[in-house]
Amino acid sequence: MDTARIEEVVGDFVHLKKRGTSLIGNCPFHGEKTPSFHVSVTKGIYKCFGCGKGGDSVRFIMDHEKYSYPEALKFLANKYNIEVQETELTPQDAEAQSAKESLYIVSQFAAAFFVKQLWETDEGKSIGLSYFKERGFREDILKKFEVGYSPDVWDAMTQSAVSAGHKLEFLESTGLSIKNDNGKIYDRFRGRVMFPIHNFTGRIIGFGGRTLKTDKNVPKYVNSPESEIYHKSNVLYGLFHAKKAIRDSDNCYLAEGYADVLSVHQAGIENVVASSGTSLTVEQIKLIGRFTQNITILFDGDAAGIKASLRGLDMILEEGLNVKIVSFPDGHDPDSYMHHVGAGAFKTYLEQNRKDFILYKANVLLKDAGNDPIKRAGIIRDIVESIAKIPDPIKASVFVRESSSLLEIEERILMSELNKMRSNKVKKNFESNQRANNNTSNQNTFSSGAPEPLGPPDDLWDDTAGPSGQQSAAENDENQEKEIVRLLLAYGHEFVNWDNIDDMYIGPFIMQNLADVEFENALCKKIIDHYKTEIDKGRLPTANHFIKHEERDIADLAITLSTSEYALSENWLNKHLIYVKDESMNLKATVLGGIFHLKKRKVDKILTNLLKEIKEEKDTDNQMILMQRYGVIKGVEREISKFLGSVIVK
Ligand code: UTP
Ligand code: MN
Repeated sequence: MDTARIEEVVGDFVHLKKRGTSLIGNCPFHGEKTPSFHVSVTKGIYKCFGCGKGGDSVRFIMDHEKYSYPEALKFLANKYNIEVQETELTPQDAEAQSAKESLYIVSQFAAAFFVKQLWETDEGKSIGLSYFKERGFREDILKKFEVGYSPDVWDAMTQSAVSAGHKLEFLESTGLSIKNDNGKIYDRFRGRVMFPIHNFTGRIIGFGGRTLKTDKNVPKYVNSPESEIYHKSNVLYGLFHAKKAIRDSDNCYLAEGYADVLSVHQAGIENVVASSGTSLTVEQIKLIGRFTQNITILFDGDAAGIKASLRGLDMILEEGLNVKIVSFPDGHDPDSYMHHVGAGAFKTYLEQNRKDFILYKANVLLKDAGNDPIKRAGIIRDIVESIAKIPDPIKASVFVRESSSLLEIEERILMSELNKMRSNKVKKNFESNQRANNNTSNQNTFSSGAPEPLGPPDDLWDDTAGPSGQQSAAENDENQEKEIVRLLLAYGHEFVNWDNIDDMYIGPFIMQNLADVEFENALCKKIIDHYKTEIDKGRLPTANHFIKHEERDIADLAITLSTSEYALSENWLNKHLIYVKDESMNLKATVLGGIFHLKKRKVDKILTNLLKEIKEEKDTDNQMILMQRYGVIKGVEREISKFLGSVIVK
């Protein structure tokens, strides 16, 4: 426990930043874009103030990797090279464990075999090693990445593995050996230089083998297939060797190929990984996100290729990461450019040619469009679409400003385009939700002529939470009620004068509008009742009134809501895909949004309950009455949704 330092253990999964005496980061247990996950180095614990999860290093690994206690201990032991002495395993455990373990072991064996071939055999030296030397790779880099050579023989590796006592079964499941239709076994990799692929704890899980032939009919790379230990979509080549540097430099360079990773390393830049030719997956982005929020793409090749890959990068923005781009002159890739200009110049080049993705994209597209106004309009839409993917509204607003000067178009127009896009997204989600709900309704007995029933009451508003971050309906209710309390505390005493609404203070305005809403959270209800009593007495309570309240739970909540004011409101904004620079600048939308959002939830609940009643009601007359009531309330629900849809863009 002393060795497994909390900041290191958590740091492998969460990008931590120093704040005061603790470290903070985005909680890995629930989807969040603003950090509420705290690590105390001195206490050796972590605690998320968002979802409440907390514990020590072992608990973290158990929760994060879904490991049992012993599995978590073994994971940590492996990380710190501590030997674990097993006493006894159940036969099933032993078998399952040894099967998977065997795949690692044969992969490790093969890697060592290939390395030995490269450095110690005539064929390896004269073909493999000389190839690397010719390309300018240094020996220490080749050794560090454990590159090797597979001889041009049918079954050299397989034979060697089998005679060393490894089972064919495991050689086959890793794809290292292949059995043909006649039952003959041969090596997958023959006459190729070999790049082993490590998982992020450093174990070898697969290979990429590059041919040395120039024959166009021979595939340039042969790769290991997916296996029990190799899942391509969540592996990044080079991550094991890069992770420390990524964390230290708070940036990850992303290249395309094995050769690029080696060359960039050779230039002394160790924070580099490769997607290995396939298009980047969300899992890979999240993997990088554990170490840094900053990705710099090292673009390969020509303008056409670059244009084609631009769209794929929106996905990184969607994950909340910052994206920068470096492209290389004259069709160079990072590898060729490094060898072309040398390590020092290469390093400088990377530092001086980083461009922000959105601005880079705007530039590339603008060059293409020239003065064609229709093309230019298309670009504006394209750029705004990318900006709309950025979850952080403040970051997005910076891009709006910068793109506005680049595209020579008023900020206000971009902003309204952005809002349109966001509200369309809301609408689309809503409609697809409705469709999904209608589909389920077909299975209901009263489908013909009945009001369209509502599905489960989690609706479009909750679409941003990932699977692990999904909140229960009850939690959502609670959050919405808390949001109202927060608004009361933060703005209740502000005097406003909004169109169509009589001049008044926000506090009483909220109270009036929610007079018919029952608060379910006991604490929220207590505060709301208290607020009401004060208003009835002609007083307008401030946040301080509650913060200093003698009842401990009231004071606690008031403090939480006041201190987390920003985080909460930002979450709220993200959730609703609302775009405002600052909620106090758009108080009307914020307050009305809060009120009607809560109302909608309550109405949804009524609808769900009605639906249940309708299903359970045996008497058809009664069922008709209930259905009519459903129809009316559904209408109310639609009005509220429509209102919410319109208020957010104002
Ligand atoms: P590249 O063709 O850029 O390869 O493909 P490279 O690694 O830079 O190789 P050199 O410089 O020609 O030696 C980028 C990546 O795409 C995958 C490999 O992971 C490669 O590193 N790839 C490429 C394949 O899987 N199969 C192929 O046939 C080609
Ligand atoms: Mn290359």
